[in-house]
Amino acid sequence: MAGSIAPKGAKATLEQLFASREIVVTCGSGGVGKTTTAAATAAMAAAHLGGKVLVLTVDPARRLATALGLEQFGNVEKRVPDELFTAAGVEPQGELWAAMLDTKQSWDELVRAHAPDVATRDAILANPLYQNITGKFVQSHDYIAMERLYEIHSSGRYDLIVVDTPPTRNAIDFLEAPERMAEFFRSRLLRWLIAPYRSRLVNAASKPFYLVADRILGSQFLGDIAEFFILFQTMYDGFVERAEAVTRTLQDRRTTFMVVTTLEEAPAREADFFIEALAERGFHLGAVVLNKVLPDYLVGRGAATSARVLARGPEPVAEKLIQGLADAGGPGPGEPALVARVLREVGESFLNYRLVATREAEQRAQLVGKPEIVVSVPYFDADISDLAGLLRLGEQIWR
Ligand SMILES: Nc1ncnc2c1ncn2[C@@H]1O[C@H](COP(=O)(O)OP(=O)(O)OP(=O)(O)O)[C@@H](O)[C@H]1O
Ligand SMILES: [Mg+2]
Repeated sequence: MAGSIAPKGAKATLEQLFASREIVVTCGSGGVGKTTTAAATAAMAAAHLGGKVLVLTVDPARRLATALGLEQFGNVEKRVPDELFTAAGVEPQGELWAAMLDTKQSWDELVRAHAPDVATRDAILANPLYQNITGKFVQSHDYIAMERLYEIHSSGRYDLIVVDTPPTRNAIDFLEAPERMAEFFRSRLLRWLIAPYRSRLVNAASKPFYLVADRILGSQFLGDIAEFFILFQTMYDGFVERAEAVTRTLQDRRTTFMVVTTLEEAPAREADFFIEALAERGFHLGAVVLNKVLPDYLVGRGAATSARVLARGPEPVAEKLIQGLADAGGPGPGEPALVARVLREVGESFLNYRLVATREAEQRAQLVGKPEIVVSVPYFDADISDLAGLLRLGEQIWR
């Protein structure tokens, strides 16, 4: 999208970004808060923007399900009851829906949609390798997440879809999943693997490679693989077309990406890398969410001076503290030496936090300016395990 989404002179907000998009994809390295951020921002959108908002999580963890009051999670989208909002003191303008990706179920649906005939469909679904591959193959998870997003988006059932992404080893994997799937169907390796089976199974057994492979893997194994891929290739056109459509949707101006990261070195580095990868591939970067950041006062000068006084010479402070407490008639804090030691520890640990906060500020400076919107979420003491917690987090970053 050209230009700013904010009025002239004003800073753009997540609220404006979400109001102007149909798909928001949260991404980032493992454990940084993608699922939490996706759920929190979707809840804020449902509460304040109105319309039908879906949070599509692909995270196998059931925590979000519990947070949204859903006992059962599956491919079917479920409405989050309005009562959960009102209990949190919010009158929702719209509807919040949630769904979790069921990889196996989604693959089955895909096969049903693309198989050229009933016999092929049944043969694929019954193939012993099919279940293994669709259930355990990580890339199949990435692909199906994007595929399912595409399907829901084209149905037009929702005004906004907020997508959580799986904890991939490499955050750009899922972006390339549709393209890789198309490539896979075109691949020479695949053709080479199934060629002898395509011509005649008997021939295959006479070739040295297959002879050895059969002996090691069992003769059924390669046969199953070949059958699986030969059947799968009957769906080639549908798949490739679909994969290309998925990529187009992701690059569409109605879609934006929200990179979530903490300011620790490794995740921040990956976020940086991811931001570049998005730009290179023509995806729109809408916002960066800095999660679990330490408070600003840690890097302020005044606080550091106080902490240094405590760390270097806590004894006079301890004496004054003991005296002050005695004057006030309160209980004594203990032996002066002990009080001094506690104060020193407090000072030193503050300085340690300050060091981390300073490093965070440096990381932040590198990320700021890349997208129009950069927001920070503080580290919450209490675990975010219900809608009220999600909304509390959302409030910090929404406007
Ligand atoms: N700002 C925060 N303050 C405190 N805890 C947080 C905050 N954000 C997230 N958490 C907690 O951190 C943990 C990881 O968060 P979350 O599951 O959202 O991360 P994720 O990026 O989705 O992880 P994964 O890559 O494994 O899917 C959760 O227990 C969550 O409650
Ligand atoms: Mg997650």
